[in-house]
Amino acid sequence: MEKHYNLIVKGNGYTASGIDSIHYFESALFCINEDGYIEKICFREDTNYSALLIYARESGTLHELTPGQFLLPGFIDLHVHAPQWPNLGKALDRPLDQWLQKDTFPLEARYSDTGFARKIYQHLVKTLLANGTTTAVYFATVHREASLELGRICLELGQRALVGKVAMDDKQACPDYYRDESAERGIEETRLFINDIKNLCGNENSRVLPVITPRFIPSCTSELLSGLGELAKEMGCHVQTHCSESDWEHNFVLDRYGVTDTQALYNFGLITRKTILAHSNLINDNDMNIINNVSAGIAHCPLSNFYFANCVFPLRTALERDMHIGLGSDISAGHSPSIFDACRHAITASKALNDGVDPQRSPEKRGCPGSAITFKEAFWLATGGGGEVLELPIGQLREGFLFDALVIDTNSTGSDILIREQEDTSDDILQKLIYNTQRSNICEVWVEGKKLSI
Ligand code: GUN
Ligand code: FE
Repeated sequence: MEKHYNLIVKGNGYTASGIDSIHYFESALFCINEDGYIEKICFREDTNYSALLIYARESGTLHELTPGQFLLPGFIDLHVHAPQWPNLGKALDRPLDQWLQKDTFPLEARYSDTGFARKIYQHLVKTLLANGTTTAVYFATVHREASLELGRICLELGQRALVGKVAMDDKQACPDYYRDESAERGIEETRLFINDIKNLCGNENSRVLPVITPRFIPSCTSELLSGLGELAKEMGCHVQTHCSESDWEHNFVLDRYGVTDTQALYNFGLITRKTILAHSNLINDNDMNIINNVSAGIAHCPLSNFYFANCVFPLRTALERDMHIGLGSDISAGHSPSIFDACRHAITASKALNDGVDPQRSPEKRGCPGSAITFKEAFWLATGGGGEVLELPIGQLREGFLFDALVIDTNSTGSDILIREQEDTSDDILQKLIYNTQRSNICEVWVEGKKLSI
């Protein structure tokens, strides 16, 4: 065996290579190189399988899953508000505009204290990792130093992350105690933040990436939005914002600009291949074309939709148009840190849209038939779909991709998962994993070929 691998993982599991392409593998050998990439996958039927397995054993590089354990790609959370972590499970009873002013901005303002930020962010990142989120896309706050601290913590704890210093400057919409001083300042701070993230100690391989983050149109002036659009072009980095989330927000933008969120963001240069649009619930046909023309992505946040969106994202329609879509927790507008939960909520939301929910309406007028998605589609969205949105080689257990992965132990203490080997097909087992995995079932989390402590 002339080739040296740093690590060879042997096990059963699942990966998706497309919305309708799920692959089950048994006792496959994942050969991982020193940079954390899957260099080779060897299946039992391959001719050199036995030789590779012997080599793995003898070289001490073998990591073997036990019976009842399953290997999955690491889950990707495309939309997390890191500073809102202390509000998880709180303050879910007001509409979006009031929730921002009364419950959210006062909390986010506290991150001017970097010590406070460090404490909260450490707890958040540890919790997300333990729930199987190997990559998270974060909104931080307006504070450059605390946002940078979030990047440092992700590097320390091993999570892959995209981090944005939030930009928001409109004096009418943002409180004096919590906003960028001016558009110019917001743009300059964002520029400095991007460079700071790139230069963080330990970030030589860019495991933490900067994101240009105008909060959403209602909290930004046109000057800030166009400046950030120019910066996106100059820097070529990711962009994230909220798009057409709720009736209030959608109509606010229509009133201000006479066009939809999507069209306005596009005009400001903020919709690129590397843009992640949170929600996009109220996008129309033309908006979908704009997003698709540049292959920008959408972070579907189904749980948060139930609380703040007044509607549900038309997921099936978007999938039929081959849009790039992944899932987001939208903490703390969503009250769960788990992307397994986001899968379940995406399925539930799609079923609610499919059938409709008002029993007073006759069945044929109640819902939007054809909207329901399957557990397999949800699995793709949580993994490969997110990787595609981010244009990163993650979310699939595939040669040339980074080994970001989790191991589910169906036999862990207190497991809700009962596998009946004689009765359950491989599809049944994946379905059980998607519906019933709890944090306590997640026994290993790997990022870039390194096993993290969870
Ligand atoms: N729109 C602008 N800011 C926010 C936020 O923090 N959460 C959600 N859900 N929507 C937003
Ligand atoms: Fe959000």
